[in-house]
Amino acid sequence: MRIAILGAAGQLGRDLCPRLASLGEVIPLSRADIDLRLAENIVPTLTKHQPDVLVNCAAYNFVDKAETERDTASLVNAFGLQILAQECAVVDCKLVHFSTDYVFGQNATRATPYREDDSPGPISVYGWSKRFGERDVESASREHLVIRTCGLYGVWGSGGKGGNFVETMLRLVGEGKPIRVVHDQRCTPSYTVDVASATTELIARGATGLFHVTNSGDCTWYEFAQEIFRQSELKPDLTPIISAEYGAVAKRPAYSVLSTAKLASVLGSPLRSWQDALAAYLAERQQKPT
Ligand SMILES: NC(=O)c1ccc[n+]([C@@H]2O[C@H](COP(=O)([O-])OP(=O)(O)OC[C@H]3O[C@@H](n4cnc5c(N)ncnc54)[C@H](OP(=O)(O)O)[C@@H]3O)[C@@H](O)[C@H]2O)c1
Repeated sequence: MRIAILGAAGQLGRDLCPRLASLGEVIPLSRADIDLRLAENIVPTLTKHQPDVLVNCAAYNFVDKAETERDTASLVNAFGLQILAQECAVVDCKLVHFSTDYVFGQNATRATPYREDDSPGPISVYGWSKRFGERDVESASREHLVIRTCGLYGVWGSGGKGGNFVETMLRLVGEGKPIRVVHDQRCTPSYTVDVASATTELIARGATGLFHVTNSGDCTWYEFAQEIFRQSELKPDLTPIISAEYGAVAKRPAYSVLSTAKLASVLGSPLRSWQDALAAYLAERQQKPT
């Protein structure tokens, strides 16, 4: 099997490449091969590499900036993706695409995990752009896999966000400043290694359609920070705040926990808890080459 990965140098892409290599030949692609804002290089790249599967890890990920950069967010996350999905369908290439828990949020009283068949309702430009992208992938071909995930962190850090939440917390401790973290957004932080492994397993099993793939359990970002510091044996000045105090430009869902029952039914078990995944991440970051 020939598996091309667009966004191969990103946080999730870098953990996916070595795992997908167990399924066949991996072809890492970058923005220089396919820039989703300029769809012109999609067909030549597909023709050149002739992949059986294209895994799209590329995205416009700046959640706050998207509120004022609506056109770029839409180009990368929806319009460019639509052309990619259509061209993959033409050459019989299965498209595996990543989406987000931020396609939810309109239901302000929701308190149970969202299933794949729940109706999305984004509350931000980023969330809408990703929702439109999901629909584009779904409508281009039956031979697709859309994976919604949440709160990613991995040792390679998000290029778009310049690191990840765990590293930000540890850096802030190092700076010795009081740390304020929102306690009114509940989701499931997820380790890219676990999401990459589950994605590889789904591709290996020929899964199609929509899957939620996150670690197990849920927490607020404040609770996640507490656990990072507990496991790192640090005792910073940490205070819970509400989103309005933090004042981010884009709205985030108060509750965007994703049910992974469908994933567990296919793989035989859910992914490990977010606490165990965090422990694995903290161990892995010690080994990471600088
Ligand atoms: N990070 C999260 O917390 C999170 C949560 C839920 C879902 N997701 C989804 O998971 C996927 C992977 O996220 P990630 O955290 O691994 O992102 P990331 O580290 O920011 O990587 C994104 C990749 O997209 C590429 N890219 C950006 N604009 C592009 C364009 N116009 N054309 C082609 N490539 C472009 C980047 O390439 P350059 O290096 O050249 O910029 C980068 O390699 C995305 O679909 C994201 O929406 C992420």
